[in-house]
Amino acid sequence: MKSYTFFLFALLLFSFAAQGQTNAPQLGKNTVKEVIAAMTIQEKAQLVVGATELKKASSADTGTTIGFTEQKVPGAAGIMAAIPRLGIPALIVSDGPAGVRINVVRKTDKSRRYYATAFPVGTSLASTWDTELVEEVGRAFGNEVREYGIDILLAPGMNIHRNLLNGRNFEYYSEDPLISGKMAGAIVRGIQSNGVGTSIKHFSGNNQEANRNGVNVIVSERALREIYLKGFRIAVKESNPWTVMSSYNKLNGIFTAESYDLLSTILRDEWKFEGFVMSDWGGGRDRPAMIRAGNDLIMPGRPGQSDMIVAAVKNGTLSMQALDSSVERILNIILKSPTFNKRPYSDKPDLKAHAEVVRRAGAEAMVLLKNERQTLPFGSKVKSIAVFGNTSFKTIAGGWGSGDVNKAYVISVIKGIGNAGYKPDADLKRDYLRYFTKDSADQMAAGAKWPKAAPELMLQDSVIFKKAEECDIAVLTIGRNSGETSDRDLEKNYHLLPAEIAQMNKIAAAFHARGKKLVIVLNVAGVIDMKGWKESADAILLAWQPGQEAGNSVADVLSGKVNPSGKLATTFPVNYEDISSAKNFPGTPVEKPLNVTYQEGIYVGYRYHDTFKVPVSYEFGYGLSYTKFAVTDFRPGRPSANGNFEVTCRVKNTGTVAGRQVVQLYVSAPVKNLDKPAQELKSFAKTKLLAPGESQQIRFSIKGADLASFYSDRSEWITDAGRYEVRIGFSSRDIEKKGTFVLNASIPVEKTHRVLQPVEQIKEYKP
Ligand code: BGC
Repeated sequence: MKSYTFFLFALLLFSFAAQGQTNAPQLGKNTVKEVIAAMTIQEKAQLVVGATELKKASSADTGTTIGFTEQKVPGAAGIMAAIPRLGIPALIVSDGPAGVRINVVRKTDKSRRYYATAFPVGTSLASTWDTELVEEVGRAFGNEVREYGIDILLAPGMNIHRNLLNGRNFEYYSEDPLISGKMAGAIVRGIQSNGVGTSIKHFSGNNQEANRNGVNVIVSERALREIYLKGFRIAVKESNPWTVMSSYNKLNGIFTAESYDLLSTILRDEWKFEGFVMSDWGGGRDRPAMIRAGNDLIMPGRPGQSDMIVAAVKNGTLSMQALDSSVERILNIILKSPTFNKRPYSDKPDLKAHAEVVRRAGAEAMVLLKNERQTLPFGSKVKSIAVFGNTSFKTIAGGWGSGDVNKAYVISVIKGIGNAGYKPDADLKRDYLRYFTKDSADQMAAGAKWPKAAPELMLQDSVIFKKAEECDIAVLTIGRNSGETSDRDLEKNYHLLPAEIAQMNKIAAAFHARGKKLVIVLNVAGVIDMKGWKESADAILLAWQPGQEAGNSVADVLSGKVNPSGKLATTFPVNYEDISSAKNFPGTPVEKPLNVTYQEGIYVGYRYHDTFKVPVSYEFGYGLSYTKFAVTDFRPGRPSANGNFEVTCRVKNTGTVAGRQVVQLYVSAPVKNLDKPAQELKSFAKTKLLAPGESQQIRFSIKGADLASFYSDRSEWITDAGRYEVRIGFSSRDIEKKGTFVLNASIPVEKTHRVLQPVEQIKEYKP
């Protein structure tokens, strides 16, 4: 009897609960508006704040990040709040730009490891100048996002390479907004084709790590529009990213995460962005102001933040309408997500297939900087190789921080060389490996938790001489790494150390004395100094940080299996001081900059070097090939009334081996009321693999609007009347053909809002 009463009571309780469930509108069954109407203020405030556990990740397993979740996908950077009553599940978001960053070991499953693929870093991908390939990388990448049960990838990073020392440049693409926007658009299309989302980041002006959370970027409206926002705009237009991540810094006095002008007026009203905006981890200060600005999701989320939102609505400082808009935008994305749609995932992406994509993309991205007397390719003329340099053995796949990936392996340069059938010298290998073992042991004995990268091994002269006797050629890898939270050190990271140069010169002298050559491989995160050593090398291959197949990609190019076709998307200056931001980086006070003034305005990278006639070490767009190309049948079309025009040409492989070439279209615009860069990249195309003698037609369609400059005084993009020069080249300084046309009348392209003006007067550099 007793148990019968209990049963009835339980049944009654259950049916109440079930009724409660069915009575409340359910996301997916009811409209988003109906769901919002049924939400309490507390629930709304809950949804706009992340639900990531309070964890400080600092282990080698997760990298240096602000937080991560143990739920569903351990090691993912964050989780959103769930509201089961309304059928709203919690989405998982994960870093990062070079691969899915999750924990390898799971407490709940000790039986296996959860590795992800380390793809080439952003700077590397941009050097392919191949949007189709980058989209293909995106498809493989997005498949891993999906197969690991993640909803939104916190990538790509697409800030402008304003200064070479930014510690996170490796995550980003280029000094040029067109390249940045096109690359970001391509990878987002690829990733999102898997039914998962992306978050293009960090919007905007996060061009340094020095005091990234507090620094105020003081920049003109014109530089903002033409340089720092343009790439984001292109990516939004061409790929519809599900989300945008606001940055840590202030822009002209206001934290981007609290900037209505940036996140609502520009991003939504002007660009028609339809997804939601999330903050960077811990970005912004005033939580209600963030929602007011249109920063819909506060990440990673901390206790008490929802209460602040509720309080602000109650005291009238945050309108319910603003909160509802954020909720609506978030719900619309949740509706598309794998978690909401209960898409099954395997936890077993095809890592083998993706490694093949990495190897190919890594090799396509490499830039051949120098190749005297056909040092490369090795082909079959080289057999034994003296492999030098720490990073020939400990090759760097990518940088550290949230852009790191927990990969299963990295193919070293020496391994790749061996895989390609060459004979790396065994004595050198033994010496280096012994040195690493001893160095780690010494560090551990001295109390280190994890051994740091060992200083460069200095070999005895006798060893170098002996190897110059015995081996056919020398390969020396120079490595540099960098990552989140700090910028690169000018002396130790940008410059080669005196000891490195001395050793390189010794190797060069020893090999040259015997009529043999030295190849330098640069396994670097970004631009490095080339002075005082590049003459020693017979060939220099800029390998960047090409992902986990690094050594195989390097060997593919060294051997000649792949003909290099990468091009610089960021200039290599002669001196660091030659770059336009050198005097204003990282801002003042230097120890912890509160302000950084972008005095260079629009003159960033080649826009500066070309306009101010500053010599460079290797120019924007530069990269050699094992073959030669010529441009023929150049036809610069006449512009129509709206300024649109077509350019066609033929690119012919005039050399002896198959290869690909990047055709770059630069335009020099008339200077009337506004100063202009000497030339700007307006389009680019990469040929297919052309056999010797083969040619391909290339067609560019340029819009008049693409030629416009931003007139701050009128808040308007205008394409000026006057004489334009169209240049087709294989680099910004290797122009093959030129044509001109005249626009008789100026073309008003677009009126914008007058927003984000600097408060201070900026004395911008003028040509
Ligand atoms: C980084 C972001 C990253 C986030 C989550 C932040 O420190 O700036 O790029 O997505 O952490 O790990």
